[in-house]
Amino acid sequence: MSASNIIVLDDAQALYVRAAEEVAHFAGEAICTHGEFTLCLSGGATPAATYELLATRFHLSVDWKEVRFFWGDERCVPPDDPASNYGMANRTMFSKLTLRPDQIHRILGEAPPEEAARAYEEDLRAFFGLGEGDFPRFNLVLLGLGDNSHTASLFPGSPAIHETERLAIAVEVDAPERRRVSLTVPVFNHAARVMFIVGGESKAQAVKNILQGPRDPERFPAQLIAPEDGDVLWLLDKPAARMLT
Ligand code: 6PG
Repeated sequence: MSASNIIVLDDAQALYVRAAEEVAHFAGEAICTHGEFTLCLSGGATPAATYELLATRFHLSVDWKEVRFFWGDERCVPPDDPASNYGMANRTMFSKLTLRPDQIHRILGEAPPEEAARAYEEDLRAFFGLGEGDFPRFNLVLLGLGDNSHTASLFPGSPAIHETERLAIAVEVDAPERRRVSLTVPVFNHAARVMFIVGGESKAQAVKNILQGPRDPERFPAQLIAPEDGDVLWLLDKPAARMLT
């Protein structure tokens, strides 16, 4: 990982602001170039403040009508469940914006997991005009990092990390909300750009594992995220970057 792909911010607030700045910048670049911005959101708690900033402080920095929202993974819960990644994005961002329903490509957390995965795959194929064996190319994928080195819902030791054909799969994970739908490694690795947003002391060991640890994707699945024709940007706060040399 070249140093230029790693940006360390002083603290969590600086991390959230920089992440919002980067999203707004990449949105402008994509909309100018392609007329739209396909943004794949991450879940969990870390990105919430950035989503809030995008919809408030950066509201006028993005041409929101040209943005299409997707998710890297979703918990298999209803959209109004506090654990829903869609629900978090809705509370922090969508509820503050004026968006058309067709801009939001939600994973159907309320449906049976395999059904939700298949439906999401069909949505991706239709939107990106994919043929058999093709993968969607998101303008930007946001990812978080678990303290056990998972990303999206690709967990250590999970067969999901070896999936090379499906776009989205149903998985069982060792975390609250065990049943999930996750995009697969090849989808992430077809992105034009992946941006990890990672903060807090609890992530320092996982960050060290991914960026400077031995190559061991079984234990450190986020090591698999390496877009073939795209780049990876790591936004870290100082506590999360503490163990990096
Ligand atoms: C999820 C996320 C997951 C998350 C990490 C970090 O659905 O939980 O996709 O990969 O990004 O677990 O979560 P925190 O930001 O809450 O630490």
